[in-house]
Amino acid sequence: MNELGLTMGQEAYAHAVADQDQEREFTLLDRQWTQLGGVLGGEYNYATGLFASSLPYEGVGHLLEMGCGCGVASVMGALAGVPRVTALDINPAAVRTTELNASRHGVGDRVTALTSDLFAAVPPDETYDLVFWNSPFIEAPPEQEHESALAYHFFDPGYGMHRRFLGEAAKRLAPGGRLFLGFSYAMGSAERLKEVAAEAGFGVRVHVQEAFTVPATELGTDPVYAAHADEEQQVRIDFTLLELTR
Ligand SMILES: C[S@@+](CC[C@H](N)C(=O)[O-])C[C@H]1O[C@@H](n2cnc3c(N)ncnc32)[C@H](O)[C@@H]1O
Repeated sequence: MNELGLTMGQEAYAHAVADQDQEREFTLLDRQWTQLGGVLGGEYNYATGLFASSLPYEGVGHLLEMGCGCGVASVMGALAGVPRVTALDINPAAVRTTELNASRHGVGDRVTALTSDLFAAVPPDETYDLVFWNSPFIEAPPEQEHESALAYHFFDPGYGMHRRFLGEAAKRLAPGGRLFLGFSYAMGSAERLKEVAAEAGFGVRVHVQEAFTVPATELGTDPVYAAHADEEQQVRIDFTLLELTR
């Protein structure tokens, strides 16, 4: 497990739970987005925007966005010309938010949003040209149980969900189809991801990465921040779009 990621995730989760009843609006990629209560998006939107603007939508006939949240990648894909988008999330409030955002940006007819535990709600033989999940890459202890829908946004106990996702995604790619994961080396468990990817027959390569440093004291008072800081007391954080290749 990655102790920096787990601490950051636990703190962000506590903050998100305290705020979860609020419905809000946020601006991302020069557009206005709706965020219903019980969904994350707005304040965690740096990675969302980076990933949604870096995916290779060109020539894609059917995009599958796993864990759509506010539906930013689904909507950006449809706006980029993808004729058919399936957006799935285990959190029904995220599915509703995606529907609202798809209508708001004029692509409601191309985006189908469904409540689903991974691929459970889509036909078993349906395949996709592009599969993307900005995944809950913070590895939690395997015995941890999710106590709310918001916990699914952040944590994957033992990377069991990543394992299930990659195992199924391997069968869901159309010929020439591509698979991407939103990740962070600073906060996720890279070795564990490599293992579960290899089990599903995939290698891992960086497609896009943005990194920056944050003063340890700005992150919080937990000693883990100082322990991960460089000699100038800065902690390096990255957001990385990975392509799973075979
Ligand atoms: C890190 S958030 C990403 C949200 C959004 N796509 C974005 O980029 O802002 C991970 C999303 O995956 C969803 N999720 C987690 N486990 C899931 C599962 N088993 N099946 C479907 N969605 C899941 C969460 O509810 C959450 O919306």
